[in-house]
Amino acid sequence: MNAGYATEQLESLLAAASADTEKGKVASYIPELAKEDPRQLGVSVCMPDGSILSAGDADTPFTLQSISKIFTLILALCQNGQQYVFERVGKEPTGDPFNSIIKLETIKPHKPLNPMINAGAIAVAGMIQGKSVEDRLNGLLDMLRKMTGNPDIRINEAVYGSEKKTAARNRALAWFLKDSGVLDGDVEETLDLYFRHCAIEVTTKEVAKLGMVLAADGIDVVTGERIFPEEVARICKTFMVTCGMYNASGEFAIDVGIPAKSGVAGGIMATVPKRMGIGVFGPALDEKGNSVAGVKLLELLAKEWKLGIF
Ligand code: DON
Repeated sequence: MNAGYATEQLESLLAAASADTEKGKVASYIPELAKEDPRQLGVSVCMPDGSILSAGDADTPFTLQSISKIFTLILALCQNGQQYVFERVGKEPTGDPFNSIIKLETIKPHKPLNPMINAGAIAVAGMIQGKSVEDRLNGLLDMLRKMTGNPDIRINEAVYGSEKKTAARNRALAWFLKDSGVLDGDVEETLDLYFRHCAIEVTTKEVAKLGMVLAADGIDVVTGERIFPEEVARICKTFMVTCGMYNASGEFAIDVGIPAKSGVAGGIMATVPKRMGIGVFGPALDEKGNSVAGVKLLELLAKEWKLGIF
């Protein structure tokens, strides 16, 4: 792929998708996220040689939010193995919003249906090992710093504090999980870890690199180092297809056809197996919590570059 021509294509597709920013709203249930300018849109693509192409707001920091659920899962699988993890969290899409509580109570056993919904990710955060919350957090930060090549990856303290103060729904989910025996240990500590994972700050360039590690089955294409086993990458990419865009995952699989994970700060990480990682940022969200212009941009890009995997 010619880098200059590909960058021009990215710029023109971004311009075409940016009208869609008008169709969405920034998340406001985490007050700090409501301060974002909804018209922003950025994209980066990381290629198998580690080179990165970008267009638009590709240097603007934003928080991972639910994109972090993939990396918490990677760490939990590496630390505990599949059997332990999937005894406590399922493998099925829900068809419900990401913070829904209904199926937790109505389905038996009361384990969350998958690790991409909030209940599932809180259960997975509870599996992360370490002597203290700080220690448990550092495991993930170290992995993300290695994968992005950025030793300064850190938490956005304002977003973290804002979510921690207002997370009544997540607290309800966590305490229900405690009551059902899915969550062991200190509930507030696990919630604290979950909020901090969500508040890890990145740019689209870093998200594209993270997506490329998954596309390369767990190998950092820049250093050649294996970060996690191929089998873990396979599991994560499958969850991205079935549950990564929540109750829009089916629609996204048909319209775009790339494994992807969204977050309410407006980020989307997409992974084209063997070919590329893509990071998108557009904080105006649709009613399901996915970046409205970000989804549009991925749809246009998938058509232009024939990226769909199906
Ligand atoms: O727990 C929450 O509600 C947020 N920290 C993360 C949710 C999220 O990103 C859903 N994504 N579209």
